[in-house]
Amino acid sequence: MVSASAPGKIILFGEHAVVYGRPGIAVPVSQVRATARVEATPPGSGLTLLALDLERSVHLRAATMTDPLAAIAFLTLAHLEADEPDALLTVTSTIPIAGGLGSGAAVSTAVARGLAAFLGCDLAPAEVSRLVYEVEKLHHGTPSGIDNTVVAYEQPVYFVRDRRMETFTPGAPFRFLIADSGLPSATGAVVAAVRAAWQAEPARYERLFDQVGALTDAARQALEAGDVRSLGPLMDRNQALLEEMGVSAPLLDRLVAAAREAGALGAKLSGAGRGGNVIALVEEATAAAVEAGLADAGARRVISTTVG
Ligand code: PMV
Repeated sequence: MVSASAPGKIILFGEHAVVYGRPGIAVPVSQVRATARVEATPPGSGLTLLALDLERSVHLRAATMTDPLAAIAFLTLAHLEADEPDALLTVTSTIPIAGGLGSGAAVSTAVARGLAAFLGCDLAPAEVSRLVYEVEKLHHGTPSGIDNTVVAYEQPVYFVRDRRMETFTPGAPFRFLIADSGLPSATGAVVAAVRAAWQAEPARYERLFDQVGALTDAARQALEAGDVRSLGPLMDRNQALLEEMGVSAPLLDRLVAAAREAGALGAKLSGAGRGGNVIALVEEATAAAVEAGLADAGARRVISTTVG
């Protein structure tokens, strides 16, 4: 039996603008993970993929690339030039689905790594990231590639589409609360809605994306300098631009306002929006009050994560 895992993630800055070539910043959330366990089965049985949380079982022989679990298995086997093994791969995940925490990319990453480990092969983060990106493209239309990158490298990343990605190290610990709105966020649908809006009003959206890009660059400087106080207002400004793009939602606005009122240094939605998660930057002294404020405003679950 071998096992492999991959973390969740949050986008700190630049969602949507990152699809249009502006920089984005994402960090791993290591305490929520997808895990793949692989065990041998009798000769001739082929590969079965079992997703316990999704209550799905897929026999690779009977599957096609339209199935995301089968797709990552096909792509990984092709990349490793390996035959289908006789094995049962069971994937479990503690990452909320459709919440902007990267559950799809993490499940794909865990499956690719689990299969490679079972076959006795190494897969470098860049290779995993590329394979997972292929699956993201099948299911999300026009992904920027930021999700697969941060999940595969499990480090803070400064990401610009079609460029070499950069990892970086924050200069001090930054603590974020991640509040689940309980509303599903359908990444592909929200990305498509932004594309339609950009096509209808290209100049306005290009300006919004430029402003987001400038904030993301300022945020990287603040993160690297360990300047916790400067980062909060940058998050607030990014949220205002996301609202102008039309990807927030009344509940997300309420969670953001509640976090700020309870003492967060800044707050914004994270990921595609219209649902999913809100993130709030907190200090030790205010963390408990902000968590309570988020719960009162309707958050289903609050996770605390420290970056750096
Ligand atoms: O919903 P998530 O967390 O997978 O984030 C999507 C991020 C977008 O910028 C909206 C899309 C993308 O591919 O980068």
